[in-house]
Amino acid sequence: MRVLAIETSCDDTCAAVVEGGNAVLSNVRKAQTAHANWGGVVPELAARQHAADWRGVVEAALAAAQTTMEGIDQIVVSVAPGLMGSLLVGVQAAMHLGALWSIPVQPVHHIWGHVASVCLGRNPSEIKLPALCLTISGGHTQLLKIDNWTTAKMVAETRDDACGEAFDKVAKMLGLTYPGGPVVSQLAKAGNPETYTLPHPLRGQLDFSFSGLKAAVYRHLQGVDEITETVQKDICAAFQVMVVEVFTKRIEAVFDLHPDAQQLWFVGGVSANTQLRDALENLCAQHQKELLLPVDFAYCTDNAAMMAAAAWHQKDAVKLQIAPMQPNPKLSMDVADLASVFVTVA
Ligand code: KG4
Ligand code: ZN
Repeated sequence: MRVLAIETSCDDTCAAVVEGGNAVLSNVRKAQTAHANWGGVVPELAARQHAADWRGVVEAALAAAQTTMEGIDQIVVSVAPGLMGSLLVGVQAAMHLGALWSIPVQPVHHIWGHVASVCLGRNPSEIKLPALCLTISGGHTQLLKIDNWTTAKMVAETRDDACGEAFDKVAKMLGLTYPGGPVVSQLAKAGNPETYTLPHPLRGQLDFSFSGLKAAVYRHLQGVDEITETVQKDICAAFQVMVVEVFTKRIEAVFDLHPDAQQLWFVGGVSANTQLRDALENLCAQHQKELLLPVDFAYCTDNAAMMAAAAWHQKDAVKLQIAPMQPNPKLSMDVADLASVFVTVA
């Protein structure tokens, strides 16, 4: 089955063509640059830009896969969570193409897309359930237990900000570019993590918290005369070290609580972070677990190919309807809830 997937939940306009849930024929992502001036995503700007870009991105994905709409069996679209305006554009685009070409449209939850990103480019036999899945992005920080492809159990989650958002805010405080993750990670490699002491939030618990860590960075910066390059590097190093400590401590505890999980999947935008990858690789080796990362960095950040992978696993559990769809940013990951996005017209 050949799928055209559309993903517009935040600030990237994405389209992909995927065969059989794991063979990526194309994966096009148009990042929106306008938000850089604001240090974060501006929802209204994001929706407008998606509306301007989706058609070109879909055409590029079809062309790169050397196909046309006639070669597509199924359309897949993210319906939750995310920014309502952004989701609406993707859903409208998918419904429009579906109606025009008489192709069914399958709704998918964005976080299931991140979870399924480990399947892209891999032989299905490499994926072993149950697994633990650490999903860290700009909007989410969750540790999930995946027993099957329709229900995910929350093992731990952030009580306030997402870890990626904290990377972005630390970068903003230091006068660095958006998104902050890549630049903070890079500068951290040249800094001294001991110059500044940061607190370990919710030490001894499974849940995460990042707002106190951001506030601690802010307080340190109040105490410096000038944000020099050395200050930038040392703050980034201290922050990066604490992020590694936060995740490794919790995952070690979770390995003991869920001995049946053989694999740890590490997905979402922050899974591009090399320091975290290395630390989790070591931790998994010590506990005889296997670490699975998306095979390509392009599958870590938001992309449409991962939505096709999730849809592939869930296709028998979602009853498709010929009805308009309304995205719902608050939808749970329970696949049964996807039925609620179809709007019944009286
Ligand atoms: O998954 P994603 O593309 O979008 C959301 O769903 O949020 O994740 C984007 C987040 C941003 O906060 C960005 O700063 C972070 O991922 N990120 C990183 C790295 N690359 C991207 N964080 C840490 N280290 C990185 N190398
Ligand atoms: Zn995401």
